[in-house]
This record gives sequence, C-alpha cells and structure tokens, in this order.
Amino acid sequence: MREVLERRQKDLVLFMDRVRNEHNFSALIRTAEAVGIHRIVYGFEEGTSAPINEAVTLGAHRWLFLERVADPAARLREFREEGFQVVVTWLGAGTRDFREVDYTRPTVIVVGNEVEGVSPELLPLATHRIKIPMMGMVRSLNVSVATGIILYEAFRQREAAGFYERPQLSEDEINQILYRWAYEDIIRSRKR
Ligand SMILES: C[S@@+](CC[C@H](N)C(=O)[O-])C[C@H]1O[C@@H](n2cnc3c(N)ncnc32)[C@H](O)[C@@H]1O
Repeated sequence: MREVLERRQKDLVLFMDRVRNEHNFSALIRTAEAVGIHRIVYGFEEGTSAPINEAVTLGAHRWLFLERVADPAARLREFREEGFQVVVTWLGAGTRDFREVDYTRPTVIVVGNEVEGVSPELLPLATHRIKIPMMGMVRSLNVSVATGIILYEAFRQREAAGFYERPQLSEDEINQILYRWAYEDIIRSRKR
C-alpha cells in the first residue's frame, strides 16, 4: 500500500465532464488508478449517484479520491489558479496532437460526455485543446478508450522523467491514507 501511495501522481488529475455510461465511468476510474492518479474530479447531474460498477472498477474506486463538483467551470478555474494546465479533449477546430503536450507539468485532463463531448463553456479554460488523430471514417473514439490512450502518454512521459520514483504525497498524507485504507480493509474483511 505504501509503495502504491509513493507512486501516486498528485499533480495529474482526470476531470470527467458528465460521463454518464456506467461502464465508461468505471473503466475510466480503473485506468486512472493504474497510472497512479490520485484524484478524479467529475461533474454529474444533481440527484443522481456516480455510476460505479464494481465488476468493472475491480475496486479501483476505493483507492483514489473521487471528487464530485456542482460547478465544473469554477473547479477548473481553481486548478488554473493553483498552477495546473488544463488539457481539454476536443474534436472541433484549434486542437493539437495529444502527444505534443508536456504532461510532466501539473495537469488536469478533461474528457467529455459520450454524446455531447466536453461542455463548450469549459473551452475558454483550456490551456490546450487536444485530439487523438483518427484516420478512419468514424469521427470519435469511445471516451474510456480515448482517455486510456492519453493517460498512458502522460504515464510514459512521467515515468521517463522519474516521477514514479519520487513520492509526491507528504509522509503525513501517506500515513493518513494508510490508516484509512487499513481500517476500511478490516471492516470489509469482517463483513465477508
Ligand atoms: C464519443 S466522444 C464525444 C463525441 C462528441 N460528438 C464530440 O464532438 O465531442 C466522448 C469523449 O471521448 C473523448 N474522445 C473521443 N475521441 C477522441 C479523440 N479522437 N481525441 C481526443 N478525445 C477523444 C473526448 O473526451 C470526448 O469528449
């Protein structure tokens, strides 16, 4: 558990803008956890709960922080004020190839709804608009596939730069999370 926490990327955030489908939502969490993401922020309709399917996450949702936001634009503005670059996936004009971005900078990656994509009101907050090149007839990828491709490019860059060898969480943060994880583990095993 400690080794996992020492590899957590505090300054790489996945931001899901109204991803609705349960399978997509859950697959995104699982991939994000695999590359060491510490926090996922998501905007979702009021009154509905996060569509988590445990058979798809395989428990990944328990090992990272899921933050639900009522106002995605306000939250992205806060990230920008904290020094994060906001990288928005966008299928319209004015985009760059996703591989051109430097993901070793503090980064929020914004992915969008299955039908509508990222909300247009979030676009002005983008430091970069990115696209995965596509050569076929279909215009877009499934959101969890697209996110996996981008996250693994971020992982590639960060691994090459030694980011997984230097803990980003403080010793205090690691101990607090370890305590919670161990405690929840005991509760879960008692319920079995
Ligand atoms: C099915 S797409 C949305 C399609 C929507 N009609 C649009 O124009 O944005 C859902 C999400 O997957 C991601 N996505 C799909 N294809 C992509 C691509 N080629 N490059 C970057 N992101 C992509 C984006 O986050 C997008 O918001």
